[in-house]
Amino acid sequence: MEYAIYIDGQKCIKCGKCALLCPAAVFTGGEKEIPSAEYARRCIKCGHCVAICPSAAVFHSTFPAEKVHLINRELMPSPEQVLELIKSRRSNRAFTTVPIEQNILQKIVEAAHRAPTATNAQQVAFTVVTSPEKLREISTFTVSVFTSIAKKLSNPILKPILKLIIGPAYRYLPAFQRMQKQLAEGDDPILRGATAVILFHAPSSIMFGKEDCNLAYQNGSLMAEALGVAQFYTGFVCSASSKSGHKKLSRILGIDGNIVYAGMALGIPKHKFKKYIDKQEVMINYL
Ligand SMILES: Cc1cc2nc3c(=O)[nH]c(=O)nc-3n(C[C@H](O)[C@H](O)[C@H](O)COP(=O)(O)O)c2cc1C
Repeated sequence: MEYAIYIDGQKCIKCGKCALLCPAAVFTGGEKEIPSAEYARRCIKCGHCVAICPSAAVFHSTFPAEKVHLINRELMPSPEQVLELIKSRRSNRAFTTVPIEQNILQKIVEAAHRAPTATNAQQVAFTVVTSPEKLREISTFTVSVFTSIAKKLSNPILKPILKLIIGPAYRYLPAFQRMQKQLAEGDDPILRGATAVILFHAPSSIMFGKEDCNLAYQNGSLMAEALGVAQFYTGFVCSASSKSGHKKLSRILGIDGNIVYAGMALGIPKHKFKKYIDKQEVMINYL
């Protein structure tokens, strides 16, 4: 155990909040008693105990004073502002060639990194690609995977069987068939001229890597919108990675042992949306 937790009996006001909020049942002790971190080994290092303690009585070696911050509620957006941001976030695939400043990309990653992770694993890592050669390599890899899938789907012998097994995949066949030609003509159907891509990845050994990466993506996409950066989800890249067994893309990115579960193509928008449109009628079930 590379951390220590204890309660400072001099400071503790016995409010019981640390024990109540702890997701891992680390603390023991009855009502109006000074809790004891008896099961410290169960700790998932979420820091809730430190963040909730009103008298700074919880010592957690992972969270020294410089890692604990007061929340400035005056900086909170109103619910209306949150909803306006959510409504205005759209996939925008029309980019200029102007590069995105490093500190802007950094802010998007910072927002993404704040997303929750299962058992607070915090194993989501980010690869930020701005090199035109690497961006091209990602698109070329993706197109090559879909070109080979298109060949299999079009094979007259395999077709009747594949239609039975993976019928819905045929919906994408025309798009797969166009990809190689478009890329060869300098029209990238995968990254659409994005000047940056953020890939969200996690070690293949963790159980909820996919969920963790996709929650991180959504945080990042809202931050991108707030910063006036255009972005869209690189589903084709993720799907090509999965269809090719993940290793190829991981090797291109130099992240062996990690799986890319989400990706964001970004750029300075050529055009910003001035309107949002209504979504389909919400399907909601109250029980
Ligand atoms: C799982 C997933 C995969 C996606 N893959 C792609 C993609 O490969 N290329 C692309 O241009 N957009 C992709 N998108 C973006 C969707 O097309 C887009 O979110 C949808 O059309 C709704 O538009 P909006 O994001 O503007 O609300 C993907 C979105 C999701 C959630």
